Amino acid sequence: MLKQLTSLVCISLVVLNALAHNNGLALTPQMGWDTWNYYGCSISEQTILDAAQGFIKYDLPKYGYNYVVMDDCWQAPARNATTGAPIADPTKFPSGMKALADQIHSMGLKFGIYSSAGMYTCGGHFGSLGYETIDAQTYAEWGADYLKYDNCYNEGQAGTPKLSYDRYANMSFALNATGRPILYSMCNWGEDGPWNFAPTIANSWRISGDIYDNYNRFDERCPCLSMIDCKLAGYHCAMTRIIDFAAPVGQKAGTNHWNDLDMLEVGNGGMTYDEYVTHFSMWSILKSPLILGNNVLNMTNETLEIITNDAIIAVNQDSTGSAAERMWKVPVFSGGDLSSWSGSLVNNTFVIALLNTSPETQYVTVNFTDVFIDQGPSYQTGTYVIYDLWQKDSAGAWGKDIGTYTAAIPDVEIGMHQVRIWKAVPASTNSRRDLAEL
Ligand SMILES: *[C@@H]1O[C@H](CO)[C@@H](O)[C@H](O)[C@H]1NC(C)=O
Ligand SMILES: *[C@@H]1O[C@H](CO)[C@@H](O)[C@H](O)[C@H]1NC(C)=O
Ligand SMILES: *[C@@H]1O[C@H](CO)[C@@H](O)[C@H](O)[C@H]1NC(C)=O
Ligand SMILES: *[C@@H]1O[C@H](CO)[C@@H](O)[C@H](O)[C@H]1NC(C)=O
Ligand SMILES: *[C@@H]1O[C@H](CO)[C@@H](O)[C@H](O)[C@H]1NC(C)=O
Ligand SMILES: *[C@@H]1O[C@H](CO)[C@@H](O)[C@H](O)[C@H]1NC(C)=O
Ligand SMILES: *[C@@H]1O[C@H](CO)[C@@H](O)[C@H](O)[C@H]1NC(C)=O
Repeated sequence: MLKQLTSLVCISLVVLNALAHNNGLALTPQMGWDTWNYYGCSISEQTILDAAQGFIKYDLPKYGYNYVVMDDCWQAPARNATTGAPIADPTKFPSGMKALADQIHSMGLKFGIYSSAGMYTCGGHFGSLGYETIDAQTYAEWGADYLKYDNCYNEGQAGTPKLSYDRYANMSFALNATGRPILYSMCNWGEDGPWNFAPTIANSWRISGDIYDNYNRFDERCPCLSMIDCKLAGYHCAMTRIIDFAAPVGQKAGTNHWNDLDMLEVGNGGMTYDEYVTHFSMWSILKSPLILGNNVLNMTNETLEIITNDAIIAVNQDSTGSAAERMWKVPVFSGGDLSSWSGSLVNNTFVIALLNTSPETQYVTVNFTDVFIDQGPSYQTGTYVIYDLWQKDSAGAWGKDIGTYTAAIPDVEIGMHQVRIWKAVPASTNSRRDLAEL
C-alpha cells in the first residue's frame, strides 16, 4: 500500500515537471541579487555595476549566484511616444540598458529587469499592462535574462485565478515569442493562488506580500494568517510569517517552477545571526529562489559565511527539486513554536530541520517516525549518518558528521530563534535494502 502510494506520488510529480514552464531555465531555484531590499528606488548604472563587482570580489558565482537583477525605478518618465517602447532613465543610465547588460554579461553574470503587470509599477513608473509585446521585445533586445514582474496598479484584473492568469500569461507568451530564454519571476504576492495557475507559465511566483527585515513581528499591513484564502497580501511580512505561509504550498514546487518566499534580508541588520541563519536555511530547504538583498559590495564575515554555506545551498539546488514539508508544529507556552521539517534529496538522502521560533531554549527528540512519514516503517526504524549543515568538519567544510542515529535524534538542544539543519544518509546496509524496495 505504502509502496503503491509512493509510486503514485512519483508519477504525478513527473507529469507535473513535464508540464512546467518550458523555457529551459530555473531547473533548480534561481540565485542572484536584486537592488530593491538595499537600494529601493535609489539605483543607477553605477549601483548595478558595483554590485556585479561585489559578486566577483566575494566569488559569489562559485556558489551559484549569477543573476544581477535591477528592480523598480530604472524607467524614464515616459515611453517612446512614437513606438511605445520602454525607455531607461537617461540620467541614471547614461550608457543605456544594452550597454549595461553587455557589461554584466562580460563579467560572466546574467542581467535581470523589472516591470509590473499593471498601468504603473509599484514605484509609479510606466507598467507593462497592454504593452507586453513591445516590452518583452525590448528587454530581449537589451539582453535581459530575467524578468521580475510585479502586481501594482493592475486595474482590478485580479480576484480570480483566471484574471490573474490572463494578465501574467500574456507576458509569459510575449517573453517566449522573443526567442530569448528569459527567466520569468512572477511577483503577484500569492494573489489568487499562483501555485495553482502559474507552474505552466512562470519559473517562480511570489507566495505572499513583501518581506521585511524582521524575525516575527505581526504587522497589520500583512494581515492574513494563511495565504490560501487571503484577500489582502499586503507587505511588511516578517520572515517567520512567510515560513508559515510557505508550509502548505511546497507540494506545488518543482523543476522550472518554484515558490518564491521573496528576496533575502540576510546582512541588512534587522535580525540576529541565528535569525538570519534560520532565514537562509528555511528559504533553502523550501526551494525558494535565493536572491540576495543586501549590500554585496561590503559584507561582514558573518553575512558572507551565511550566504556561502555550500552545504545549505546544495540542499536548495538539489536536483530532485522537492521542497521540505512541515511534519509537525507545536506551540510553546512563552510564544512562538517548535516545528520539524523533512525533505528528500538525491540518492536516497534526506534533509531534516528543527525550528524554534520561541524565545526559550528547547530540548527535542527528533523521532524518525515523523521524519519519514512518507517513506514507511523501514525508514522510520532505520539507521542514518547525520551531518549538521551548520557545523564545519575537520577540513573546514560545512556539514560535520555528528554520528550515526537509529530511529531518532534524541535530546537536541535548540536555542531561541535557532534552526538545526541535518542531512541524513542511510547507513550503507540499510540504504541498499531501502533502495531495493523502491
Ligand atoms: C517557448 O515555448 C516553447 C513551448 O513550450 C518551448 O519549447 C520554447 O523553448 C520556448 N522558448 C523560449 C525562448 O522560451
Ligand atoms: C523613439 O523611437 C524612434 C523610432 O525607433 C526613434 O527614432 C526615437 O529616437 C525614439 N525616441 C526616444 C526618445 O528614444
Ligand atoms: C495581451 O495583452 C494585449 C494588450 O492588452 C492584447 O492585445 C493581447 O491580445 C494579449 N495577448 C494574449 C496572448 O492574451
Ligand atoms: C564596510 O562596512 C563597514 C561596517 O560594516 C564600514 O566600517 C566600512 O567603512 C565599509 N567599507 C566600505 C568600503 O564601504
Ligand atoms: C574576515 O575574514 C577575513 C578573511 O578570512 C579576515 O582577513 C578578516 O580579519 C575577518 N574580519 C573580521 C572582522 O573578522
Ligand atoms: C548521487 O550518486 C551518483 C552515483 O553514485 C553520484 O555520481 C552523484 O555525485 C551523487 N550525487 C550527490 C549530490 O551526492
Ligand atoms: C517515536 O514515536 C513512536 C510513535 O509515537 C514511539 O513509539 C517511539 O517511542 C518514539 N521514539 C523515540 C525515540 O522517541
